[in-house]
This record gives sequence, structure tokens and C-alpha cells, in this order.
Amino acid sequence: MMLKRFSWHQRLAHFVGSVSGMMLLITGLPIMFPEHLGWVFGIFGGSTVTMFLHRVFAVILIFSFAYFGTYFVLERIVRGRGDSNIKNFGLSAEFISEVVAGAVRDILWTLGLRRERPKFGKYDWIMVSDIYLLPVLAFIEIITGTIMWFPRSFDFVTSNPGLFFVVRTIHAGVAFFLLLFVLAHAGILHLTPGNFPINMSIFSGKISRRKAEVEHEKWVEVAEEVEGEEKKSSSKLCYVFGAITIVNLIALAYVPFAMRNEWLAGLRVSGDGIVTFALGLGVVTLIVYVIASVIAFVKGIKS
Ligand code: HEM
Ligand code: HEM
Repeated sequence: MMLKRFSWHQRLAHFVGSVSGMMLLITGLPIMFPEHLGWVFGIFGGSTVTMFLHRVFAVILIFSFAYFGTYFVLERIVRGRGDSNIKNFGLSAEFISEVVAGAVRDILWTLGLRRERPKFGKYDWIMVSDIYLLPVLAFIEIITGTIMWFPRSFDFVTSNPGLFFVVRTIHAGVAFFLLLFVLAHAGILHLTPGNFPINMSIFSGKISRRKAEVEHEKWVEVAEEVEGEEKKSSSKLCYVFGAITIVNLIALAYVPFAMRNEWLAGLRVSGDGIVTFALGLGVVTLIVYVIASVIAFVKGIKS
């Protein structure tokens, strides 16, 4: 038996937002790390093309941010929160303490220090954090990106060019954090044994009742039942790909240490084997995810 996990709007919002976000990383990171990721310019046919694509996907991101943001707020006002466990726009002290308590219990359970698995509603504490943090980071990228794109329209940048450098450093720093986010997020929702080869819920809009009973126990009673069959598949390959992602995240965590040797100047770093490996593997993974997302989205429309 299947349950309705996401509406058509939520699936489209994830698809447009994630593909544009990943394409912005693929086209932006080579500007930040030209010595390590110069090959990316090559596969797109040159830096003029990647910079043009960066602007095209920036416009798509701005559009999706404005459109789905407005939709989310209006839907809450008109229809309420539906089956979501995010109460009062997530701003009440009661809800915040519920999320913090859930996080503590989940970490203790993961470490084997708590016997009972904590019970979550539709979104667990990591998902709630993602839902709030991601739009904030996208907003920072949109503001800093717009200033870099049209510097002459911003007096504070023209009168003090040093501030342009500050804006660029913020844009680059958030971008690097977003790279870590995508690897961790997709790692959890795609490479873990319960999800491998892929958790299709964000593409098909459905989740099996059996999976929901384990991961979102408190949500099951309010969720809507829908047609469809559970596709069961399991493979030990998830441990291999999961391990590759963990190695990638650890290697990327080394990048800021390498930058520290250069006084974090504009978050640049010169040639270094581990940095080249970490960034290269990260960008290859992003390219695979963009292709996989398009295929999964098309399959989701047909199912
Ligand atoms: C820039 C890239 C991405 C962004 C900004 C993004 C953002 C989000 C957010 C905010 C959510 C809702 C909260 C959550 O479940 O954590 C979500 C859900 C989800 N994402 Fe992503 N995502 C991205 C890429 C990906 C990729 C590459 C995959 C798959 C490999 C993926 C798979 C999923 C799945 C399966 C869910 C639904 C989980 C559930 O059942 O609730 N996402 N994403
Ligand atoms: C997920 C969102 C985004 C990511 C991950 C991202 C990533 C990056 C990165 C890593 C750089 C290189 C920074 C450096 O010089 O070290 C960059 C440059 C730049 N970004 Fe973004 N960006 C994003 C969104 C945007 C948006 C929304 C805009 C425009 C409104 C934008 C406009 C620019 C511009 C103008 C540059 C300067 C390089 C050029 O002229 O092509 N970016 N971006």
C-alpha cells in the first residue's frame, strides 16, 4: 500500500530548485577553483559558455524561489498545513523545542545510546532544517549574485570596490557549503540501505506505507492512501557508493584547511592533490545527479 508524500507542486519545486542549484554549482565552482576544476570549462566548450549558463540557471533559481515561495505562503494561509508537522510556520517555541528534542533523541539512538527509535511526523528534524535553511542560503546567493552581476547599480560597491570582494567571498563561501549539503542530503536519501538505489518519493510523490511506518510513524495516520505498488530492491552496492560519498565529504572538509595556509584570501587555494581529488569527485557526482534527476523526474511523470 502507498501513501501520498508530495504534491505535484512540491515535486516540481524540488526538481527545478535542485537542478538549477546543482547546475549553478557545476558552473560556479570552476570560477572559484580554476586550477583544480579547469576541465569543467573544457566539457562545456569554454568559460564564456559556463558563465552564460550560470546566469541562465540564476534566473531559473530566482523564478522558482519567487514562484514556489509565494505558493508555499499562500497555500498555508488558505488551506493550512495539511498533513505536515511544521506548525505555525515553524516559528513557535513549542515546535522548535520539539525539533531540538527529536534531534537529540535521534543522535542518541544512532549512537546506540537510546533503545527506542524516535517517532517523527511527516518531516524529521534533518528535513525540517533543510526546508528552512535552503531557502535562506538560496536568498543569500540571489542577493550577492545580483550585486556581482550588476555592480554599477549598487552605489556601495562602486564607491568602495573592496566591498565587491566581500560580496564575492560570501557568494563563494555559501556555494562551497551548498556542495557539502548536496552530497550529505543525497547521500542520506539515496545511498542509505533503506533508500538505495533511489528514494523515488520526491519524483513519484508516493512512499510505501511500510517505509513510512518506520521513518514517519506519527504521519501515517493523517496521510492519504493512493494507488500504486511498492518496488522492493536491495543491493550491497549502497555501501560502496555511500563510502565514496563519505570519503568525498572528508576530503572536502580538508579544503578550508588548505585555504587557511593562504590566509583564506577570497576563499582561494592553489594546487593541492587532495583538493583536486575532492572537488573533482564532487563535481562528477553533481553531474551524475543532474542526469539522474532528469531521468527520475520523467519516470515520475509517467508513473
Ligand atoms: C541542490 C540540490 C538539492 C536541494 C537544494 C534539495 C532540497 C531538498 C529539500 C529542501 C527537501 C525537503 C526536506 C528533506 O527531505 O530533506 C528535499 C527532499 C528530498 N530530496 Fe532533495 N535536494 C537536492 C538534491 C537532491 C538529489 C540529488 C536527490 C537524489 C539523489 C534528492 C532526493 C531527495 C528526496 C528523495 C527527498 C524526499 C525525502 C522524503 O521522503 O521526505 N535531492 N530535497
Ligand atoms: C545555488 C546558487 C548559486 C551557487 C552555488 C553559485 C556559485 C557561484 C560560485 C562558486 C561562483 C564563483 C565565485 C568566486 O569568484 O569565487 C559564482 C560566481 C558568480 N555568480 Fe553564482 N552561484 C549561485 C547563484 C547565483 C545567482 C542567483 C546569481 C545571479 C543573480 C549568480 C551570479 C554570479 C555572478 C555574476 C558570478 C561572478 C562570475 C561571473 O561573472 O560569471 N550566482 N557563483
